[in-house]
Amino acid sequence: MDKIIIKGGRPLKGTVNISGAKNAVLPIMAATLLASGKFTIKNVPDLLDVKTMSNLLRIIGAKVQYEDHTLTIDTSECNFFEAPYELVKTMRASIYVLGPLLARFSKAKVSLPGGCAIGPRPVDLHIKAFEQLGADIELNKGYIVASADKLKGTHVNFDISSVGATGNILMAAVLSDGRTVIENAAREPEISALANFLVKMGADISGIGTDRLLINGVKELHVVDFEILPDRIEAGTFLIAAAITGGEIELRSVDPSHVSSLTGKLRNSGICIEEGESSIYCKAPERVRAVNITTSSYPGFPTDLQAQWLALMCVANGSSVITENIFVDRFTHVAELRRLGAQIELKKNIVVIRGIDTLNGAPVMSTDLRASASLILAGLKAEGQTEVLRVYHIDRGYESIEKKLANLGATIRREEGGY
Ligand code: EPU
Repeated sequence: MDKIIIKGGRPLKGTVNISGAKNAVLPIMAATLLASGKFTIKNVPDLLDVKTMSNLLRIIGAKVQYEDHTLTIDTSECNFFEAPYELVKTMRASIYVLGPLLARFSKAKVSLPGGCAIGPRPVDLHIKAFEQLGADIELNKGYIVASADKLKGTHVNFDISSVGATGNILMAAVLSDGRTVIENAAREPEISALANFLVKMGADISGIGTDRLLINGVKELHVVDFEILPDRIEAGTFLIAAAITGGEIELRSVDPSHVSSLTGKLRNSGICIEEGESSIYCKAPERVRAVNITTSSYPGFPTDLQAQWLALMCVANGSSVITENIFVDRFTHVAELRRLGAQIELKKNIVVIRGIDTLNGAPVMSTDLRASASLILAGLKAEGQTEVLRVYHIDRGYESIEKKLANLGATIRREEGGY
């Protein structure tokens, strides 16, 4: 297993291009199952999760090719309606094929995802809403086995705002009979991107970007070309990387409106942020002020940037409090950051951090994607050498992070081996 080795202490400087959004491309890849033919999807990041979703689509019978950040997916010969445990256990987003398979082929068998490093992550909301659409669902030997002659429009009111459940039900509803209303729908930009993709395919959806989606089912959808929006979590990670190193960077190919909850907090912490149409300039002081955050669904502060913000607060001037409201157990990075000298107290879903001058490099272990990012950011600040082990997690969601950081002046390299 590869590891990333960082010598900390260098302020980042320069420009960095942000890649396409992982959490948009995954449901959009699944949505190609809703029509027969050849799709072209551009600005697709080169990520392990994209490879995993490509393999899942291949199992279902699609032909998938990836070249130069462009995916072509031919769904004309899909004939196997199953997502096996071996794939689902490595990527929960596999559950996104349930809605499209059920809508187009009237049946689907998808492994239950099980636990994961950031908490229990149930799929009850998906299952309940599919039942409301008229699907028969059985849980059998670790699999969700679903069937429906024809899905029927319904009224879904989610108890919790869920990105995955909103996307899954949306994909099923577009080919259902009649009208579906989704209340308390997720408003994340990736869900809007999925909805826009479906509209381009011929779906009738209104309320995109709001928490109330209205879908009038159509008989058929058609293939399209589509371009993936920039990854707001990658953008946020680079902004925090600049902040933790006292750097000065510019992000290109980014949508500033998608990271405004973060840029607001960065400004409060003393950082100069200037937004262009598709760029963000960021200049950080040597040490930022401590600022509290509470994670919530979009447009609130994203849980996917909590670990990175926590790393920044470890070296901020003053004490801060982080409250994690989406995945209440998402704190595996805390113990690793303590190995670098961080002063952190964790009680349930609340963390209190006492900022110190600097961290000290040490070997640390990655436990999940965003935790890995947080450890890399901490390593960029730490004195001496930090080795981040098990970096396959980072390859799931960041394209060439070590190369992008090296281009910004960081002393960072990847080495094969480790455990
Ligand atoms: N929830 C339920 N039941 C369900 C579904 C969700 O109780 O059936 C709860 C979850 O346990 C959580 C909350 O609802 O407390 C929100 O979870 P959500 O369903 O929105 O999360 P997700 O769809 O599983 C996506 C992203 C995550 C991101 C979350 C929250 C993808 C592929 N994944 O997950 O991304 O953290 O939304 O924004 O889009 C990541 O990229 O590192 C990542 C984990």
